[in-house]
Amino acid sequence: MFKYFVIRVNAMEKKLAEYKCDTNEAISLKVVRFPEDVDDDSTTFHPEFSHQVFGDDEIAFGYKGLQIQLFYTAGNLSTLFKVKYSSKVTEAFDCVEPDDVEGKIREIIPAGFTSNTDDFTSLLEKEANFKPFGTLLHSYTVHNEEAGEFTYQIHKVEISCPGFREYHERLQTFLMWFIETASFIDADDDRWDFFLVFEKYNKDGETLYATVGYMTVYNYYVYPDKTRPRVSQMLILPPFQGEGHGAQLLEAVHRFYCSLPKVQDITAEDPSENYVKLRDFVLVKLCQNLPSFAEDKLLLGFSADMVQEAQDKLKINKKHARRVYEILRLRATDMSDEKQAREYRLEVKKRLFGPYRKNQRELAKMKKCLRPEELVSHMGQMDTQTQHEELEKSYQDVVEGYRRIIERIATHA
Ligand SMILES: CC(C)(COP(=O)(O)OP(=O)(O)OC[C@H]1O[C@@H](n2cnc3c(N)ncnc32)[C@H](O)[C@@H]1OP(=O)(O)O)[C@@H](O)C(=O)NCCC(=O)NCCS
Repeated sequence: MFKYFVIRVNAMEKKLAEYKCDTNEAISLKVVRFPEDVDDDSTTFHPEFSHQVFGDDEIAFGYKGLQIQLFYTAGNLSTLFKVKYSSKVTEAFDCVEPDDVEGKIREIIPAGFTSNTDDFTSLLEKEANFKPFGTLLHSYTVHNEEAGEFTYQIHKVEISCPGFREYHERLQTFLMWFIETASFIDADDDRWDFFLVFEKYNKDGETLYATVGYMTVYNYYVYPDKTRPRVSQMLILPPFQGEGHGAQLLEAVHRFYCSLPKVQDITAEDPSENYVKLRDFVLVKLCQNLPSFAEDKLLLGFSADMVQEAQDKLKINKKHARRVYEILRLRATDMSDEKQAREYRLEVKKRLFGPYRKNQRELAKMKKCLRPEELVSHMGQMDTQTQHEELEKSYQDVVEGYRRIIERIATHA
Protein backbone atom coordinates (compact mmCIF):
# COMPACT_ATOMS: atom_id res chain seq x y z
CA MET A 1 0.00 0.00 0.00
CA PHE A 2 2.75 2.44 1.08
CA LYS A 3 4.88 1.48 -1.95
CA TYR A 4 1.91 2.12 -4.25
CA PHE A 5 1.44 5.53 -2.62
CA VAL A 6 5.13 6.43 -3.16
CA ILE A 7 4.94 5.42 -6.82
CA ARG A 8 1.87 7.60 -7.30
CA VAL A 9 3.54 10.58 -5.61
CA ASN A 10 6.64 10.12 -7.81
CA ALA A 11 4.51 9.95 -10.95
CA MET A 12 2.67 13.10 -9.91
CA GLU A 13 5.92 14.94 -9.22
CA LYS A 14 7.15 13.93 -12.65
CA LYS A 15 4.01 15.22 -14.27
CA LEU A 16 4.18 18.48 -12.33
CA ALA A 17 7.81 18.92 -13.41
CA GLU A 18 6.57 19.09 -17.00
CA TYR A 19 4.98 22.41 -16.05
CA LYS A 20 8.29 24.08 -15.15
CA CYS A 21 9.84 26.50 -17.62
CA ASP A 22 13.25 28.15 -17.66
CA THR A 23 12.34 31.84 -17.64
CA ASN A 24 15.55 32.96 -19.39
CA GLU A 25 14.48 30.84 -22.36
CA ALA A 26 10.78 31.64 -22.10
CA ILE A 27 11.29 35.42 -22.25
CA SER A 28 11.84 36.71 -25.79
CA LEU A 29 13.06 40.26 -26.15
CA LYS A 30 13.22 42.28 -29.33
CA VAL A 31 13.81 45.84 -30.51
CA VAL A 32 11.74 46.23 -33.64
CA ARG A 33 12.32 48.59 -36.59
CA PHE A 34 10.31 46.98 -39.38
CA PRO A 35 7.01 45.01 -39.27
CA GLU A 36 8.76 41.89 -40.62
CA ASP A 37 11.08 41.87 -37.54
CA VAL A 38 8.14 40.85 -35.33
CA ASP A 39 8.11 37.27 -36.71
CA ASP A 40 11.83 37.06 -37.44
CA ASP A 41 13.39 34.82 -34.78
CA SER A 42 16.91 35.93 -35.70
CA THR A 43 16.27 39.33 -34.07
CA THR A 44 15.13 37.81 -30.76
CA PHE A 45 17.37 37.86 -27.71
CA HIS A 46 16.91 36.40 -24.26
CA PRO A 47 17.69 37.54 -20.71
CA GLU A 48 20.94 36.61 -19.02
CA PHE A 49 19.20 36.80 -15.65
CA SER A 50 15.62 36.58 -14.52
CA HIS A 51 16.14 35.72 -10.85
CA GLN A 52 15.11 39.16 -9.64
CA VAL A 53 11.65 38.60 -11.10
CA PHE A 54 11.24 34.82 -10.94
CA GLY A 55 13.42 33.80 -7.98
CA ASP A 56 16.84 32.19 -7.74
CA ASP A 57 16.01 29.07 -9.78
CA GLU A 58 14.78 31.26 -12.70
CA ILE A 59 11.81 28.97 -13.22
CA ALA A 60 8.15 29.68 -13.81
CA PHE A 61 5.82 26.94 -12.67
CA GLY A 62 2.41 26.06 -14.04
CA TYR A 63 2.75 26.20 -17.82
CA LYS A 64 3.85 24.03 -20.73
CA GLY A 65 5.43 25.80 -23.70
CA LEU A 66 5.54 29.16 -21.93
CA GLN A 67 6.48 32.12 -24.13
CA ILE A 68 6.74 35.63 -22.78
CA GLN A 69 7.10 38.25 -25.48
CA LEU A 70 8.49 41.65 -24.56
CA PHE A 71 8.95 43.49 -27.82
CA TYR A 72 9.88 47.16 -28.04
CA THR A 73 9.75 49.62 -30.92
CA ALA A 74 13.37 50.51 -31.63
CA GLY A 75 13.24 54.22 -30.79
CA ASN A 76 10.41 55.08 -28.43
CA LEU A 77 10.41 51.62 -26.82
CA SER A 78 6.61 51.32 -27.05
CA THR A 79 5.99 47.87 -25.67
CA LEU A 80 4.22 44.67 -26.69
CA PHE A 81 3.75 42.31 -23.73
CA LYS A 82 2.20 38.95 -24.38
CA VAL A 83 2.13 35.65 -22.50
CA LYS A 84 1.44 32.43 -24.42
CA TYR A 85 1.49 28.74 -23.43
CA SER A 86 0.26 25.44 -24.79
CA SER A 87 -1.31 24.26 -21.52
CA LYS A 88 -1.73 25.28 -17.91
CA VAL A 89 -1.30 23.04 -14.86
CA THR A 90 -4.89 23.66 -13.76
CA GLU A 91 -6.05 21.69 -16.83
CA ALA A 92 -4.49 18.54 -15.33
CA PHE A 93 -4.55 19.22 -11.58
CA ASP A 94 -7.46 20.88 -9.80
CA CYS A 95 -5.79 22.30 -6.77
CA VAL A 96 -2.35 23.37 -8.05
CA GLU A 97 -1.87 27.08 -8.65
CA PRO A 98 0.38 28.27 -11.48
CA ASP A 99 2.79 31.19 -10.91
CA ASP A 100 1.34 34.59 -11.73
CA VAL A 101 3.76 35.19 -14.59
CA GLU A 102 1.85 38.10 -16.00
CA GLY A 103 1.59 39.81 -12.60
CA LYS A 104 5.34 39.46 -12.01
CA ILE A 105 6.22 41.10 -15.31
CA ARG A 106 3.60 43.82 -14.82
CA GLU A 107 5.42 44.78 -11.62
CA ILE A 108 8.49 45.85 -13.60
CA ILE A 109 7.06 47.19 -16.86
CA PRO A 110 5.20 50.49 -16.85
CA ALA A 111 1.53 50.71 -17.82
CA GLY A 112 0.72 51.73 -21.38
CA PHE A 113 1.95 48.60 -23.16
CA THR A 114 -0.17 46.75 -25.67
CA SER A 115 -0.87 43.01 -25.80
CA ASN A 116 -2.07 43.10 -29.37
CA THR A 117 0.53 42.41 -32.08
CA ASP A 118 -1.36 44.37 -34.78
CA ASP A 119 -1.57 47.41 -32.52
CA PHE A 120 2.13 47.08 -31.82
CA THR A 121 2.95 46.86 -35.53
CA SER A 122 0.93 49.99 -36.20
CA LEU A 123 2.94 51.82 -33.49
CA LEU A 124 5.99 51.32 -35.70
CA GLU A 125 4.56 53.94 -38.05
CA LYS A 126 4.87 56.52 -35.28
CA GLU A 127 8.59 55.84 -34.89
CA ALA A 128 9.32 58.49 -37.53
CA ASN A 129 8.14 61.06 -34.96
CA PHE A 130 10.58 59.82 -32.35
CA LYS A 131 13.56 62.13 -31.88
CA PRO A 132 16.42 61.57 -29.40
CA PHE A 133 15.95 63.29 -26.05
CA GLY A 134 18.31 65.91 -24.66
CA THR A 135 21.40 67.55 -26.10
CA LEU A 136 23.94 65.99 -28.42
CA LEU A 137 27.24 65.29 -26.67
CA HIS A 138 29.11 63.21 -29.22
CA SER A 139 28.57 61.58 -32.59
CA TYR A 140 30.58 58.76 -34.23
CA THR A 141 30.39 56.34 -37.13
CA VAL A 142 31.00 52.60 -37.27
CA HIS A 143 31.83 50.80 -40.48
CA ASN A 144 30.26 47.38 -40.88
CA GLU A 145 31.64 45.13 -43.65
CA GLU A 146 28.20 43.83 -44.66
CA ALA A 147 25.81 46.62 -43.79
CA GLY A 148 27.93 49.73 -44.51
CA GLU A 149 28.42 52.81 -42.38
CA PHE A 150 26.26 53.71 -39.37
CA THR A 151 26.08 56.91 -37.39
CA TYR A 152 25.52 57.01 -33.65
CA GLN A 153 24.73 59.86 -31.28
CA ILE A 154 25.27 60.18 -27.56
CA HIS A 155 22.89 62.55 -25.77
CA LYS A 156 22.76 63.94 -22.26
CA VAL A 157 19.24 64.25 -20.90
CA GLU A 158 17.50 65.83 -17.94
CA ILE A 159 14.61 63.97 -16.30
CA SER A 160 12.47 67.06 -16.93
CA CYS A 161 12.76 66.62 -20.73
CA PRO A 162 9.17 66.01 -22.00
CA GLY A 163 8.46 62.30 -22.48
CA PHE A 164 11.82 61.19 -21.09
CA ARG A 165 10.57 60.01 -17.69
CA GLU A 166 8.14 57.55 -19.32
CA TYR A 167 10.74 56.48 -21.89
CA HIS A 168 13.27 55.85 -19.08
CA GLU A 169 10.74 53.68 -17.24
CA ARG A 170 10.48 51.49 -20.33
CA LEU A 171 14.23 51.46 -20.92
CA GLN A 172 15.21 50.50 -17.37
CA THR A 173 13.16 47.27 -17.52
CA PHE A 174 16.06 45.81 -19.57
CA LEU A 175 18.33 46.12 -16.51
CA MET A 176 16.45 43.29 -14.80
CA TRP A 177 17.47 40.91 -17.57
CA PHE A 178 21.10 41.93 -18.02
CA ILE A 179 22.48 43.16 -14.68
CA GLU A 180 22.73 40.60 -11.92
CA THR A 181 21.88 42.97 -9.06
CA ALA A 182 19.86 45.62 -10.86
CA SER A 183 17.54 48.02 -9.13
CA PHE A 184 15.47 50.89 -10.43
CA ILE A 185 16.55 54.38 -9.45
CA ASP A 186 14.60 57.27 -7.99
CA ALA A 187 14.68 59.36 -11.16
CA ASP A 188 13.22 62.37 -9.31
CA ASP A 189 16.46 62.92 -7.42
CA ASP A 190 18.06 65.76 -9.39
CA ARG A 191 21.56 64.41 -8.79
CA TRP A 192 21.07 61.81 -11.52
CA ASP A 193 22.51 62.41 -14.99
CA PHE A 194 21.29 60.34 -17.94
CA PHE A 195 23.25 59.56 -21.10
CA LEU A 196 21.68 57.80 -24.09
CA VAL A 197 23.10 56.23 -27.26
CA PHE A 198 21.08 56.19 -30.49
CA GLU A 199 21.67 54.73 -33.92
CA LYS A 200 20.50 56.71 -36.94
CA TYR A 201 18.89 54.55 -39.61
CA ASN A 202 16.96 54.98 -42.79
CA LYS A 203 13.36 53.83 -43.35
CA ASP A 204 11.50 54.73 -46.52
CA GLY A 205 13.85 57.67 -47.12
CA GLU A 206 13.41 59.10 -43.62
CA THR A 207 15.99 59.23 -40.81
CA LEU A 208 14.87 57.35 -37.72
CA TYR A 209 16.58 56.68 -34.39
CA ALA A 210 17.00 53.38 -32.56
CA THR A 211 17.89 53.08 -28.88
CA VAL A 212 21.30 51.44 -28.42
CA GLY A 213 22.01 51.81 -24.70
CA TYR A 214 22.36 54.15 -21.78
CA MET A 215 24.11 55.11 -18.60
CA THR A 216 23.00 56.69 -15.34
CA VAL A 217 25.44 58.64 -13.18
CA TYR A 218 24.87 59.93 -9.66
CA ASN A 219 26.57 63.18 -8.64
CA TYR A 220 27.84 62.71 -5.09
CA TYR A 221 28.71 65.80 -3.13
CA VAL A 222 32.30 66.14 -1.91
CA TYR A 223 33.14 68.66 0.81
CA PRO A 224 33.39 71.62 0.37
CA ASP A 225 32.48 72.40 -3.24
CA LYS A 226 33.19 69.40 -5.48
CA THR A 227 31.20 66.52 -6.90
CA ARG A 228 32.17 62.93 -7.56
CA PRO A 229 30.06 61.49 -10.42
CA ARG A 230 29.53 57.78 -9.86
CA VAL A 231 28.49 55.56 -12.76
CA SER A 232 25.57 53.53 -11.49
CA GLN A 233 24.02 51.61 -14.38
CA MET A 234 25.33 51.02 -17.86
CA LEU A 235 23.66 48.92 -20.49
CA ILE A 236 24.25 48.42 -24.17
CA LEU A 237 21.34 46.40 -25.57
CA PRO A 238 22.54 42.91 -26.59
CA PRO A 239 22.06 43.35 -30.37
CA PHE A 240 24.59 46.19 -30.21
CA GLN A 241 27.13 44.71 -27.79
CA GLY A 242 30.72 44.05 -28.88
CA GLU A 243 30.67 46.85 -31.48
CA GLY A 244 32.48 49.46 -29.41
CA HIS A 245 29.43 51.43 -28.19
CA GLY A 246 30.21 50.79 -24.53
CA ALA A 247 33.65 52.32 -24.95
CA GLN A 248 32.27 55.27 -26.91
CA LEU A 249 29.68 55.95 -24.24
CA LEU A 250 32.10 55.70 -21.35
CA GLU A 251 34.66 57.91 -23.09
CA ALA A 252 32.06 60.56 -24.00
CA VAL A 253 30.73 60.62 -20.43
CA HIS A 254 34.25 60.78 -19.01
CA ARG A 255 35.17 63.70 -21.28
CA PHE A 256 31.95 65.48 -20.35
CA TYR A 257 32.75 65.36 -16.61
CA CYS A 258 36.41 66.29 -17.22
CA SER A 259 35.18 69.56 -18.66
CA LEU A 260 33.38 70.50 -15.41
CA PRO A 261 35.66 72.26 -12.88
CA LYS A 262 33.55 71.13 -9.89
CA VAL A 263 34.18 67.43 -10.63
CA GLN A 264 36.84 65.84 -8.42
CA ASP A 265 37.03 62.41 -10.03
CA ILE A 266 34.80 59.84 -11.71
CA THR A 267 33.99 56.56 -9.98
CA ALA A 268 31.67 53.58 -10.41
CA GLU A 269 29.26 51.80 -8.11
CA ASP A 270 30.15 48.16 -7.53
CA PRO A 271 31.76 47.77 -10.99
CA SER A 272 31.38 44.45 -12.80
CA GLU A 273 34.30 42.70 -14.45
CA ASN A 274 33.10 43.79 -17.89
CA TYR A 275 32.81 47.37 -16.77
CA VAL A 276 36.37 47.34 -15.38
CA LYS A 277 37.67 45.99 -18.72
CA LEU A 278 35.88 48.76 -20.54
CA ARG A 279 37.15 51.42 -18.14
CA ASP A 280 40.74 50.15 -18.41
CA PHE A 281 40.53 50.45 -22.18
CA VAL A 282 39.05 53.95 -22.11
CA LEU A 283 41.42 55.30 -19.45
CA VAL A 284 44.49 53.86 -21.17
CA LYS A 285 43.34 55.42 -24.43
CA LEU A 286 42.95 58.79 -22.70
CA CYS A 287 46.22 58.65 -20.74
CA GLN A 288 48.57 57.20 -23.32
CA ASN A 289 49.52 60.58 -24.73
CA LEU A 290 50.07 62.36 -21.41
CA PRO A 291 53.73 63.37 -20.97
CA SER A 292 54.07 61.69 -17.56
CA PHE A 293 53.06 58.35 -19.12
CA ALA A 294 55.70 58.57 -21.89
CA GLU A 295 57.61 55.33 -22.51
CA ASP A 296 60.87 56.41 -20.84
CA LYS A 297 58.98 57.57 -17.72
CA LEU A 298 57.00 54.34 -17.48
CA LEU A 299 60.17 52.29 -17.06
CA LEU A 300 61.19 54.43 -14.07
CA GLY A 301 58.14 53.40 -12.04
CA PHE A 302 54.78 54.77 -10.93
CA SER A 303 55.30 58.45 -10.15
CA ALA A 304 53.61 61.32 -8.34
CA ASP A 305 53.62 63.15 -11.69
CA MET A 306 51.42 60.44 -13.20
CA VAL A 307 48.98 60.65 -10.30
CA GLN A 308 48.87 64.43 -10.55
CA GLU A 309 48.50 64.65 -14.33
CA ALA A 310 45.81 61.94 -14.49
CA GLN A 311 43.92 63.69 -11.72
CA ASP A 312 44.27 67.25 -13.06
CA LYS A 313 43.68 66.63 -16.74
CA LEU A 314 41.38 63.60 -16.73
CA LYS A 315 39.86 63.39 -13.22
CA ILE A 316 41.25 59.89 -12.81
CA ASN A 317 41.95 58.80 -9.24
CA LYS A 318 45.20 57.27 -8.01
CA LYS A 319 44.00 53.67 -8.02
CA HIS A 320 42.87 53.85 -11.64
CA ALA A 321 46.00 55.77 -12.67
CA ARG A 322 48.05 52.92 -11.21
CA ARG A 323 46.25 50.36 -13.40
CA VAL A 324 46.78 52.56 -16.45
CA TYR A 325 50.48 52.78 -15.60
CA GLU A 326 50.78 49.00 -15.27
CA ILE A 327 49.06 48.43 -18.63
CA LEU A 328 51.13 51.03 -20.45
CA ARG A 329 54.32 49.80 -18.81
CA LEU A 330 53.55 46.26 -19.96
CA ARG A 331 53.18 47.61 -23.49
CA ALA A 332 56.55 49.35 -23.18
CA THR A 333 58.31 46.32 -21.69
CA ASP A 334 60.20 43.77 -23.74
CA MET A 335 59.01 40.65 -21.91
CA SER A 336 61.56 38.49 -23.75
CA ASP A 337 64.28 40.49 -21.98
CA GLU A 338 64.76 38.71 -18.65
CA LYS A 339 65.77 41.81 -16.71
CA GLN A 340 62.88 43.95 -17.98
CA ALA A 341 60.38 41.14 -17.48
CA ARG A 342 61.58 40.58 -13.91
CA GLU A 343 61.35 44.28 -13.07
CA TYR A 344 57.81 44.38 -14.44
CA ARG A 345 56.76 41.27 -12.55
CA LEU A 346 58.12 42.62 -9.27
CA GLU A 347 56.44 45.96 -9.82
CA VAL A 348 52.99 44.42 -10.27
CA LYS A 349 53.47 41.79 -7.58
CA LYS A 350 54.53 44.48 -5.10
CA ARG A 351 51.13 46.11 -5.56
CA LEU A 352 49.28 42.82 -5.46
CA PHE A 353 51.20 41.88 -2.32
CA GLY A 354 49.71 44.87 -0.45
CA PRO A 355 46.73 42.96 0.99
CA TYR A 356 48.96 39.97 1.92
CA ARG A 357 51.31 42.30 3.77
CA LYS A 358 48.35 43.65 5.68
CA ASN A 359 47.48 40.07 6.61
CA GLN A 360 51.01 39.59 7.93
CA ARG A 361 50.73 42.68 10.09
CA GLU A 362 47.41 41.47 11.42
CA LEU A 363 48.93 38.08 12.18
CA ALA A 364 51.72 39.74 14.16
CA LYS A 365 49.09 41.60 16.19
CA MET A 366 47.07 38.42 16.67
CA LYS A 367 50.10 36.55 17.97
CA LYS A 368 50.05 38.81 20.96
CA CYS A 369 46.51 38.03 22.00
CA LEU A 370 45.54 34.59 20.63
CA ARG A 371 45.86 31.30 22.47
CA PRO A 372 48.35 28.90 20.73
CA GLU A 373 45.65 26.65 19.22
CA GLU A 374 43.79 29.68 17.81
CA LEU A 375 47.00 31.04 16.39
CA VAL A 376 47.77 27.75 14.61
CA SER A 377 44.39 27.81 12.86
CA HIS A 378 45.04 31.35 11.62
CA MET A 379 48.60 30.52 10.57
CA GLY A 380 47.16 27.75 8.40
CA GLN A 381 45.24 30.31 6.40
CA MET A 382 48.37 32.33 5.78
CA ASP A 383 50.82 29.64 4.79
CA THR A 384 53.69 31.21 2.84
CA GLN A 385 53.77 28.64 0.05
CA THR A 386 50.05 29.20 -0.66
CA GLN A 387 50.57 32.93 -0.59
CA HIS A 388 53.27 32.65 -3.24
CA GLU A 389 51.12 30.45 -5.44
CA GLU A 390 48.14 32.75 -5.11
CA LEU A 391 50.23 35.80 -5.83
CA GLU A 392 51.65 34.18 -8.98
CA LYS A 393 48.15 33.23 -10.15
CA SER A 394 46.81 36.74 -9.50
CA TYR A 395 49.77 38.15 -11.41
CA GLN A 396 49.15 35.89 -14.41
CA ASP A 397 45.42 36.80 -14.44
CA VAL A 398 46.17 40.51 -14.22
CA VAL A 399 48.71 40.38 -17.05
CA GLU A 400 46.36 38.36 -19.26
CA GLY A 401 43.67 41.04 -18.78
CA TYR A 402 46.20 43.79 -19.51
CA ARG A 403 47.29 42.10 -22.74
CA ARG A 404 43.69 42.09 -23.96
CA ILE A 405 43.46 45.85 -23.33
CA ILE A 406 46.73 46.42 -25.20
CA GLU A 407 45.46 44.34 -28.14
CA ARG A 408 42.21 46.31 -28.21
CA ILE A 409 44.11 49.61 -28.14
CA ALA A 410 46.17 48.38 -31.09
CA THR A 411 43.14 47.34 -33.15
CA HIS A 412 40.26 49.62 -32.16
CA ALA A 413 41.59 52.81 -30.58
C1 LIG B 1 29.47 45.82 -20.34
C2 LIG B 1 28.83 46.50 -21.56
C3 LIG B 1 28.30 47.85 -21.13
C4 LIG B 1 29.92 46.68 -22.63
O1 LIG B 1 29.34 47.32 -23.76
P1 LIG B 1 29.79 46.95 -25.26
O2 LIG B 1 29.19 47.93 -26.17
O3 LIG B 1 29.55 45.52 -25.52
O4 LIG B 1 31.37 47.23 -25.12
P2 LIG B 1 32.42 47.32 -26.31
O5 LIG B 1 31.81 46.85 -27.57
O6 LIG B 1 32.99 48.68 -26.29
O7 LIG B 1 33.51 46.27 -25.82
C5 LIG B 1 33.14 44.91 -25.59
C6 LIG B 1 34.02 43.96 -26.36
O8 LIG B 1 33.80 44.13 -27.75
C7 LIG B 1 35.04 44.24 -28.43
N1 LIG B 1 34.86 45.17 -29.57
C8 LIG B 1 34.68 46.49 -29.50
N2 LIG B 1 34.55 47.02 -30.73
C9 LIG B 1 34.62 45.99 -31.56
C10 LIG B 1 34.55 45.89 -32.96
N3 LIG B 1 34.35 46.96 -33.72
N4 LIG B 1 34.70 44.67 -33.48
C11 LIG B 1 34.88 43.60 -32.70
N5 LIG B 1 34.95 43.63 -31.36
C12 LIG B 1 34.83 44.82 -30.81
C13 LIG B 1 35.98 44.78 -27.41
O9 LIG B 1 37.33 44.47 -27.70
C14 LIG B 1 35.51 44.14 -26.15
O10 LIG B 1 36.07 42.85 -26.05
P3 LIG B 1 36.58 42.26 -24.64
O11 LIG B 1 35.33 42.17 -23.79
O12 LIG B 1 37.16 40.97 -24.99
O13 LIG B 1 37.56 43.24 -24.11
C15 LIG B 1 27.71 45.62 -22.19
O14 LIG B 1 28.22 44.37 -22.49
C16 LIG B 1 26.49 45.47 -21.29
O15 LIG B 1 25.61 46.29 -21.30
N6 LIG B 1 26.46 44.35 -20.50
C17 LIG B 1 25.34 44.06 -19.62
C18 LIG B 1 25.22 45.03 -18.46
C19 LIG B 1 26.52 45.27 -17.71
O16 LIG B 1 27.25 44.36 -17.38
N7 LIG B 1 26.79 46.56 -17.44
C20 LIG B 1 28.01 46.99 -16.77
C21 LIG B 1 27.86 47.12 -15.32
S1 LIG B 1 26.54 48.14 -14.76
